[in-house]
Amino acid sequence: MSNGLVTMAYIAASILFILSLSGLSKQDTSRRGNYFGMTGMAIAIVATVFGGSVTAYTMLTIALLIGGFIGTKAAAKVEMTQMPELVALMHSLVGMAAVLVGYANFMDHSTSLEGAEKTIHELEIYIGIFIGAVTFSGSVIAFGKLCGRISGKPMLLPARHWLNLAMFVVTFILGGSFLDGAETGGGSIPLLIMTVIALAFGVHMVMAIGGADMPVVVSMLNSYSGWAAAATGFMLSNDLLIVTGALVGSSGAILSYIMCRAMNRHFLSVIAGGFGSAGGEAAEVVGDVQPIEVEETAQLLRDAKEIVIIPGYGMAVAQAQHTVNEITKYLTSHGKKVRFAIHPVAGRMPGHMNVLLAEAKVPYDIVFEMDEINEDFPHVDVSIVIGANDIVNPSALDDPNSPIAGMPVLECWKGATTIVLKRSMASGYAGVGNPLFVHENTRMLFGDANDKLQGLLKALQG
Ligand code: TAP
Repeated sequence: MSNGLVTMAYIAASILFILSLSGLSKQDTSRRGNYFGMTGMAIAIVATVFGGSVTAYTMLTIALLIGGFIGTKAAAKVEMTQMPELVALMHSLVGMAAVLVGYANFMDHSTSLEGAEKTIHELEIYIGIFIGAVTFSGSVIAFGKLCGRISGKPMLLPARHWLNLAMFVVTFILGGSFLDGAETGGGSIPLLIMTVIALAFGVHMVMAIGGADMPVVVSMLNSYSGWAAAATGFMLSNDLLIVTGALVGSSGAILSYIMCRAMNRHFLSVIAGGFGSAGGEAAEVVGDVQPIEVEETAQLLRDAKEIVIIPGYGMAVAQAQHTVNEITKYLTSHGKKVRFAIHPVAGRMPGHMNVLLAEAKVPYDIVFEMDEINEDFPHVDVSIVIGANDIVNPSALDDPNSPIAGMPVLECWKGATTIVLKRSMASGYAGVGNPLFVHENTRMLFGDANDKLQGLLKALQG
């Protein structure tokens, strides 16, 4: 393929990636956005493989086959509830790739760069390896926290802010020695030390973040993986990788900002870690639980006019979205006004609930964001909370010592009745008790969400 053709292919792929991102920002265009992204990636791979810079086709084919096999297997096997972990693992691979490409570039002495160009190239290597190593170790820890292998509690080392500052300053100083050393053919020692520090920094940063603040970390690591890819693009002089990395990096940064706003947090406080955990003990939840059964729930719904459904992580675990859609269709066809209220951090990844509801074909126009619906709860007859916990926890508003203090939540307790579907009184991801479950207007429908909802559908139909 000629260079001109490769450049044209790269421009086409870049445009498709931009169209993909804009498509993915809305539910009704997200499918199209995915197709744009896949087409862009296919064009990018073909142009790169058949472009002038690839010579080792045997190695490339073997790598493509192994990578393709592992990717296909993992994607086919992964449960919807494990998606966030898979995404975190993928981010770690992008980080690792940036580190490996950085070292390969450092060890490659075939380039004949001189003067400023050489210094810029070395800086690219240094920064690329730094971002890659932070992304790698941070994502591995995020993976551990998301799948529960590492405790969700923040690990707060004494003087942790000073430790972070010290690591940053040492990295900066080592950068100078690396550039000096690289001039004289050395530089590997400062580069190695910096890599270890960057790995430690990634671990420390994510370990210090408490359970409920994980959404910000997930989107932040998404952003870092983009910048790591862009850094790889600079090292390899690959324009498409730079553009794509920058797109992922900036969209991830915007997502982090949106997540911070949703959690009512300052980005820096989250990154510094331990936010909300500095206060005293969170208040204990005391009161009587009022259980309810399926028949009585069906009767409440028959008598209701306005119903709001609040899905949470438990709906994903129970895979109850299809039954939820059936119940919604039944209720709407019987003259009820049914709407969905989506909290920005419901589930375990951004847009988790929207994806599940779209999969079950719930109409988009009855799905509302928290800000659009929160004020309507005083007029709601029945709210059905399906496997949600932290996102409907009133202590976020009432208890300044709670780890989720300050986080806006769906204020369903302001409605006439709230039905909560969950299996036990266990806490949610943030590990805090929820006074909603003992509120006078709340009824607890205990059991697996899908089993109970199927029973509810039968009771309604019968
Ligand atoms: P959670 O607070 O985690 O609560 C989920 C509830 O679902 C649990 O209390 C559990 O109670 C219940 N459950 C689990 N399996 C169930 C089943 N089969 N049937 C019925 N109920 C079931 O979820 P949430 O309210 O969606 O809040 C999300 C939390 O995750 C927030 O703290 C958020 O910060 C955090 N987080 C979010 C993200 C993103 S990006 N969205 C990423 C990482 C962390 P039982 O065990 O009693 O059934």
